[in-house]
Amino acid sequence: MLPEKVEEILNIQIQKEDYSSQLYLAMASWAENKGYEGVSNWLYAQAEEERMHMLKLVKYVNERDGSARIPGIETPPDDFGDVFEMFDKVLAHEKYISGSINEIVAVCIAENDYTTQNWIQWFVTEQIEEEASVKAIIDKLNLVGKNNLYMFDRDIMSMRGGDSEETAG
Ligand SMILES: [Fe+2]
Ligand SMILES: [Fe+2]
Repeated sequence: MLPEKVEEILNIQIQKEDYSSQLYLAMASWAENKGYEGVSNWLYAQAEEERMHMLKLVKYVNERDGSARIPGIETPPDDFGDVFEMFDKVLAHEKYISGSINEIVAVCIAENDYTTQNWIQWFVTEQIEEEASVKAIIDKLNLVGKNNLYMFDRDIMSMRGGDSEETAG
């Protein structure tokens, strides 16, 4: 049985992963409208991954005899400035999510829930990878500069690595 506080914070994380998915979907649509095919494909794939994170949490909470709450959809913004600004926002969002995963670890320790503490390590590792991959994209963006966005857009999908293969288990 999940300690109440762990169940609560995991339910909050379900909301955050759901919002992440919607946020990246909004960014994907925005990028698609601007003609960035590669960037939008990257974001559509990212939105799918966030949905898998959400489902992974839902299944875990229910499996441990908790009750997962399915959140309502929060409307994300619809304008992200330019591609540079948008990826800064992606990185800031991933850092925020990493912070909430750390909070979950802290609650698990405080509540002596070593099972969840162990299980949540997958998310700890995932956040390291996500932050690193977004940082690599921002480095590349700065390298190519505003005048070579065509090249950047063409190449971005090749920077996804293997991370999209790892989905909810
Ligand atoms: Fe996530
Ligand atoms: Fe993420």
